[in-house]
Amino acid sequence: MKYKGIIFDLDGVICSTDEYHYRAWKQLADRIGVPFDRTVNNRLRGVSRMESLEIILEKFPVAYSEAEKQAMAAEKNELYRTLLAQMSPRDLSDEVRETLERLRAAGLRLAIGSSSKNTPLILGSIGLDNWFDAVSDGNNITRSKPDPEVFLKAAGMLQLSPADCLVVEDALSGAQAGHAGGFAVACVGDAADHGAGDYNLKTFRELLQVTEIG
Ligand code: BG6
Ligand code: MG
Repeated sequence: MKYKGIIFDLDGVICSTDEYHYRAWKQLADRIGVPFDRTVNNRLRGVSRMESLEIILEKFPVAYSEAEKQAMAAEKNELYRTLLAQMSPRDLSDEVRETLERLRAAGLRLAIGSSSKNTPLILGSIGLDNWFDAVSDGNNITRSKPDPEVFLKAAGMLQLSPADCLVVEDALSGAQAGHAGGFAVACVGDAADHGAGDYNLKTFRELLQVTEIG
């Protein structure tokens, strides 16, 4: 087998919460009058909540205080969590579930490496709590992607070296983080469209070919 472990980003890779991030930021941006579209949203993929807000406000000619920014980030998170409340195990696609099961059955160690502090809530909603061998997320890191911290911690939890692990990402920042940590990177979605990975996949199922399982 080509790798011993796989570290998956969550939002936009395991499930489509990236759309809910977009809608929640859009609602906040519209309320305060900041221009925000999907091109800006793509820059937020993989980036922490507070850094995302800084990107949204970067050209806005109003200097908000730290307390005001904290309040805006909290408002966005409330909107986001309201959207997350609709999620259920049906939001885990058959393709992703079957692929994960086949990767595990082949003996690979599987982890999550996500910048999101909502990771435990999301994994619970889609029926994957306690499913992965390790979960490294926004609650146990101090630097978000493109820093490799979240992936290095996940590899450490799996007791594997980066050279033995594949990172799966939809974000350019996440692909950079994987490479910075010494991992091979498979991209889906936006990052694959940019050719940012060592493998740029059209479907999640193609991971079976990348890992030489099927
Ligand atoms: C990443 C998302 O997974 O998590 C980013 O791609 C998001 O868009 C980041 O900003 C932080 O998420 P949360 O849930 O902690 O606000
Ligand atoms: Mg993502």
